[in-house]
Amino acid sequence: MADNRAALGTPAAEAHDRSRSHAWYKPGEKLKLSPYTLELFQNYSRIPADQVATHIIEVREKAWEVYPYPCIGSFRFLDFAITESPIFTTALTKLNSGGKYLDLGCCFAQDLRALVHAGIPSENLYGADLQSGFIDLSHDLFKDGHTLKSTFFEGDIFDFSTFKPIRGEISNPNLFQKIKGDIDIISARSFLHLFNPEQEFKAACQIVAILKDSPGSIIMGRQVGSFTPGMESISLGRREVFRHDPQTWEELWNRVGEATDTKWNVQAKLLELSPDVKDSIKAAELANIETRGWLEFVITRL
Ligand SMILES: C[S@@+](CC[C@H](N)C(=O)[O-])C[C@H]1O[C@@H](n2cnc3c(N)ncnc32)[C@H](O)[C@@H]1O
Repeated sequence: MADNRAALGTPAAEAHDRSRSHAWYKPGEKLKLSPYTLELFQNYSRIPADQVATHIIEVREKAWEVYPYPCIGSFRFLDFAITESPIFTTALTKLNSGGKYLDLGCCFAQDLRALVHAGIPSENLYGADLQSGFIDLSHDLFKDGHTLKSTFFEGDIFDFSTFKPIRGEISNPNLFQKIKGDIDIISARSFLHLFNPEQEFKAACQIVAILKDSPGSIIMGRQVGSFTPGMESISLGRREVFRHDPQTWEELWNRVGEATDTKWNVQAKLLELSPDVKDSIKAAELANIETRGWLEFVITRL
């Protein structure tokens, strides 16, 4: 377990540069809010329109101190990607009829809030993250600490014994053991791409163990992929990761299926990065700028 934590750069693992000179750190003045984001902060979080940007920037600064992920520096946590997923409507139907959802590696858990905003009962929605600081800040960001009934776990995907509820139903320390194996939809957004191939495989097998063991259960998300799949070095956390295309992604899940004695329908496609994401990659002098894309996936249990 120590290796996994070190690879992910928990505060204890290694000192990370939290300076604002990272290319993926956008100054607050560059924040642009989409109409959906503004509407959600106004009507779900009850923040007046003219205060939304200032509020987001203030919370983002605190999250950057927890860990300087690119999605925090570049405000990508304001993309409510689940609303654009090809199975958004299917997900709403499943969750409206009592299904359970887990946002794994949730950080700000913005997609969970989008589901609540779409009318899904929040008690059926769960979040989990290695860093409790992100979970606390997610409640500050969305100003729903007193209204949201979802339970959030602090925990390391590589060790289920570490999972403990820190928000929501905190009176039951064994809640994770109770819901493990009973989750209908797991969102693993910008999550598996954090790990080296060996860890990625292990984490994927752990995800299978959390998901309900019945046909139709879903693993969904979006992560960095590549039109020319292969290994890439990541400066943050000094990691070597594999950037997938739809074919290598399916191969991974076939191996996961063999190891866990499960079968999966893997739907994945590579989406072009938006110009502003490309610009921040260029500025960060990261390799493979032109070949990167978002790998969007829906993996359904057969
Ligand atoms: C790049 S962020 C993505 C956050 C969010 N899913 C999104 O798409 O905006 C990755 C998240 O995974 C969490 N994480 C990293 N390693 C983890 C682990 N071993 N177990 C659970 N969560 C982990 C991090 O703390 C971070 O919040």
